Amino acid sequence: MSNNLLKGKKGIIFGALDEKSLAWKTALKCYEQGAQIVLSNAPVALRMGEINKLAEQCGNAPVIGADVTSMEDLKNLFEKTTEHFGGKIDFILHSIGMGINVRKGKHYTEMNYEWNLKTLDISAISFHKVLRTAWDLDALNEGASVVALTYIAAQRVFPDYNEMADAKSLLESITRMFGYYYGEKKKVRVNTISQSPTKTTAGGGVKGFDGFYNYADKMSPLGNAPTEDCANYITVMFSDLTRMVTMQNLFHDGGYSFTGVTSSIIEQMGDLK
Ligand SMILES: NC(=O)c1ccc[n+]([C@@H]2O[C@H](COP(=O)([O-])OP(=O)(O)OC[C@H]3O[C@@H](n4cnc5c(N)ncnc54)[C@H](O)[C@@H]3O)[C@@H](O)[C@H]2O)c1
Repeated sequence: MSNNLLKGKKGIIFGALDEKSLAWKTALKCYEQGAQIVLSNAPVALRMGEINKLAEQCGNAPVIGADVTSMEDLKNLFEKTTEHFGGKIDFILHSIGMGINVRKGKHYTEMNYEWNLKTLDISAISFHKVLRTAWDLDALNEGASVVALTYIAAQRVFPDYNEMADAKSLLESITRMFGYYYGEKKKVRVNTISQSPTKTTAGGGVKGFDGFYNYADKMSPLGNAPTEDCANYITVMFSDLTRMVTMQNLFHDGGYSFTGVTSSIIEQMGDLK
């Protein structure tokens, strides 16, 4: 059902790899709520071709490749996007993550630093690069909304999340810092949404993912937040209903982040007396 929450708004959605991606569902929601969108992903991901199906379902949205670590690619993307829209941009979703040490099974204590720099560049510094490109080209409208996706490993230890915990901490810091400057300059809002574990390609890459997915589900009074609800939350963050929210890390996790223990976990632990 559409409430036309994003009627007349125009945005870029980064990171829709396949139907499971958080960005995929978000693109569909934004379109359903009246937005016009441009889709972007790394050239290597575009070669899979899946994104073309999404583009069709979003009113033949243009698909423009950009390796998010390349300032040249980002400049090209923003220039082509504003040309396509015939004006500036109202929202951006950064839904991008890649842990090279995680992928290659390197333990946190034995980190390969070259891979780690790549991880930080793709998963965190890229958010600075996206904001910086928009800033330099003055590509955002007054009051625009920018959201990146993060995970609670930025605040608490989840051992197998490995170097991605550091990447998410940096991502959240960039959100506050750039959010400050962009707020002052143009009332642009910058926030992260901290999502429950979700069964996607990036999510499934974490060792022991099923365990942490089930544990989080039992530790959340509402259960894990599904992809569809994450897409709804992002859509509201892009709408004018949240125009005074900025520089925040917003938990979208069924209550997990503020729960000490649940009856379900206590039952499972047994009576220790
Ligand atoms: N799945 C989860 O459990 C979960 C939980 C909390 C937060 N998140 C975050 O949500 C975001 C989206 O992940 P997802 O779970 O939908 O998985 P996903 O694998 O579908 O999406 C990750 C995307 O990052 C893109 N990407 C990787 N390197 C890139 C590069 N150099 N340039 C441009 N794009 C690049 C990939 O092509 C892919 O589309 C990530 O930031 C992830 O950390 C995921």
